Amino acid sequence: MMCSLRKMEEDNSKHNKNSVRSLREHVDENPCGIVLNAPRTRQPKVFIKTFGCQMNTRDSELVAGVLLKAGYQLAENIESADIVLFNTCSVRQHAEDKVWSEIGCYGRCFKPQAAGRRKKHGACSLEPVARSPVIGLLGCMAENYKKAAFAKSALVDVVVGPNDIGSIADVLDEFFKRHIPQMAVGRKQRIDAVYDTDYVADKNHANVIIMEGCDNFCSYCIVPYVRGRERSRPAHEIIREIEGLVRKGVKEVTLLGQNVNSYTAHSSWLMAHGRKKIDFIDLLKMVNEVEGLEKFDFVTSHPKDASEELFRVMRELPRCKKFLHLPVQSGSDRILKLMNRGYTREHYIKLVKKAKEIIPGLRLTTDVLVGFPGETEADFQDTFDLMKEVEFSAAYIFKYSPRPRTKAAGLADDVPQPVKKERNQKLLEFQKSLHKKKSMYICQDGR
Ligand code: SAH
Ligand code: SF4
Ligand code: F3S
Repeated sequence: MMCSLRKMEEDNSKHNKNSVRSLREHVDENPCGIVLNAPRTRQPKVFIKTFGCQMNTRDSELVAGVLLKAGYQLAENIESADIVLFNTCSVRQHAEDKVWSEIGCYGRCFKPQAAGRRKKHGACSLEPVARSPVIGLLGCMAENYKKAAFAKSALVDVVVGPNDIGSIADVLDEFFKRHIPQMAVGRKQRIDAVYDTDYVADKNHANVIIMEGCDNFCSYCIVPYVRGRERSRPAHEIIREIEGLVRKGVKEVTLLGQNVNSYTAHSSWLMAHGRKKIDFIDLLKMVNEVEGLEKFDFVTSHPKDASEELFRVMRELPRCKKFLHLPVQSGSDRILKLMNRGYTREHYIKLVKKAKEIIPGLRLTTDVLVGFPGETEADFQDTFDLMKEVEFSAAYIFKYSPRPRTKAAGLADDVPQPVKKERNQKLLEFQKSLHKKKSMYICQDGR
């Protein structure tokens, strides 16, 4: 029974290809400041399966880096792994369902005893579980479920939230020592040393986290609850990380943050260099100066914070890609207000017109959310009309899914599923037709 394991392997081969074979057997203290107590007789092999956004893709590399430094190695495939870590996403219910189903599928293949025994004894009991393979739930679902993850799946042995990934080696060591479920969640901020790891899966392109968390609290969104408050990383550390990546051969980077436009760094380092703060535009200029870096871009920009100055800087910096992801979410002012997005339809349209005018050849993409509570046909029509007016290069269209703790979860999820589906389909069809039309233009122009 192979379930979707082959696909999981393909998806993750990048992370696990570069197994390191000659790591220290015994590590007293690693650069993350994590003390490992037990000398190991062999290096356990880890396989990481990543779900969700680019932030998670980068986090999986950071986890791999921390574990390699602590004496673990990366498994070539899921079958040979001693530990399988699922780095997960909570943004929609469907994203969570997929993870539970893959954990179940993997567990039925590789850990049938644990599944049966833990179920029989009550899922949340802290009794010893099967020793191998170990299953870890990481990322946003870990923070969303916390202890309840053990109750939800008897197969889960360790739970580690996104801000706790610096202690992943500690948590696994503890599990191997005591053989009882382990959990690390609830940290407000990561330890900086998480970023000192030097593992990258793709030698050409790398993601670089410039800020963590989010303070926007869009009413539908779980991210601020699972990732915590917004923090900007010090600019000199970001630059040092990019320089290190370039030395490894990386040609292109994507700067990551939930709302990159609000990047602001204050630090004693800045004070010492005569600067009070560095904002996003300063940071872009600094990145543009990194020798050997060929190209860079960034996600995600927020329409309430993106400015004309940003567009001019994008045009002027030669290494900055002419690409802007600017999620609109809805074209209806009434819904935008309920979503707590902080801008109007008019503001958005004016902003993208400016962006296109200032940056020739701009590739503009967006996210759209259909079926938000109370979304009427007229609201949806506003969104459709906006998409027609703007003509995005690409659009990611999602059906609203109520998320725990969010403000919108208190509203009735009253747009029926078939209507959400129909609206989603309509926008997708439109986007497709637009591309057909555009490629026709390209043919007619002979370009
Ligand atoms: N920080 C980014 C992206 C956040 S999550 C931003 O501000 O746009 C990525 C996308 O998932 C969002 O843009 C939104 O369209 C979608 N999304 C977020 N919460 C959702 C929910 N509850 N249901 C459906 N889609 C959701
Ligand atoms: Fe979620 Fe809004 Fe923050 Fe994006 S800006 S992560 S949609 S709360
Ligand atoms: Fe998902 Fe967490 Fe990213 S909820 S979209 S993996 S920040």
